[in-house]
Amino acid sequence: MPDCRNTAWSDRVQGIDTLYYSRKLRFSEPFGPRFREAIPLTPDETGVLLEVGCGPGALSERLHVWYPGMRIVGIDRDDAFIAFAKEKAPEAEFLVGDAERLPFDARTFDVTLSHTVSEHVETAAFFGEQYRVLKPGGRCVVLSSRKSIVVKAPCLQPDETERAFWKEVGERDTSFQDVGVCKYPLNEAQLPLAMEKYGFKSVSVRYVTVDLTPDDPATPDDFAAAIFAEGRKSELDAVASAERSLPGVFTEERLSAVRRRILEKYSERESLYRAGIRQWDTLVTVIMVMSGEKK
Ligand SMILES: C[S@@+](CC[C@H](N)C(=O)[O-])C[C@H]1O[C@@H](n2cnc3c(N)ncnc32)[C@H](O)[C@@H]1O
Repeated sequence: MPDCRNTAWSDRVQGIDTLYYSRKLRFSEPFGPRFREAIPLTPDETGVLLEVGCGPGALSERLHVWYPGMRIVGIDRDDAFIAFAKEKAPEAEFLVGDAERLPFDARTFDVTLSHTVSEHVETAAFFGEQYRVLKPGGRCVVLSSRKSIVVKAPCLQPDETERAFWKEVGERDTSFQDVGVCKYPLNEAQLPLAMEKYGFKSVSVRYVTVDLTPDDPATPDDFAAAIFAEGRKSELDAVASAERSLPGVFTEERLSAVRRRILEKYSERESLYRAGIRQWDTLVTVIMVMSGEKK
């Protein structure tokens, strides 16, 4: 039997670890209140919420905590993400499916919500399908990561081995085009205009900032450790994606050298942190939270 599972995104674009652990940080408690304030739902909300393009399920997990009265359903076309999410977050329901042809009857959901998905799905289908499956009075919430400030500590900068590896990957890897990553980009004005165009009323936009700065005194030690762990996992995951996207291109020796360097530099960063030698490296992300109603 041929394997007809679709794992193109998790194999070649962003691995499970990258999406799961970066979102665990983004939606963790220090930032939860900021999102809850921007999302027009109340803590005692009931009904059914569909997370479109849920990936490995980190946001669905949080949505269950933020809105305990709601039934949370996540859908994604990547089989590996859905298998992982089912295992990790049994409190929500997950299924494989296409956002451009949602496998649900019209007027099924009270809320549809997505995070960093709109730019990858054809715009008319993205909004049209959510409009169709929402009940009258239902809300569509779109979270979209807009701008980032990224400042790496000197010890986390790529060395010559990594730079040469990533240069070659950049020259050869066509995964983003093949998988259709960011094929439908819309700016901060085009997104709400599109939401209105496809029928939603009372459209509103808020912005939430998430700042990950391990050396800031407001960042607890265990949170700083989680930031370093996430950075290390994402970089290792990116090497694995490159290996899967370009089979046979890199020798095991070369891949091991890049992995070793990643482990060494994060271990150095953690040592500096433990010694109290501040680097003030930071990752700040501005996330747009847009919502509209199906009247
Ligand atoms: C940038 S990732 C975001 C995943 C998740 N929302 C998160 O923030 O971790 C984009 C996701 O959209 C999914 N996706 C892209 N096009 C899709 C489509 N047509 N139908 C369903 N899922 C899709 C991908 O599989 C991937 O999981």
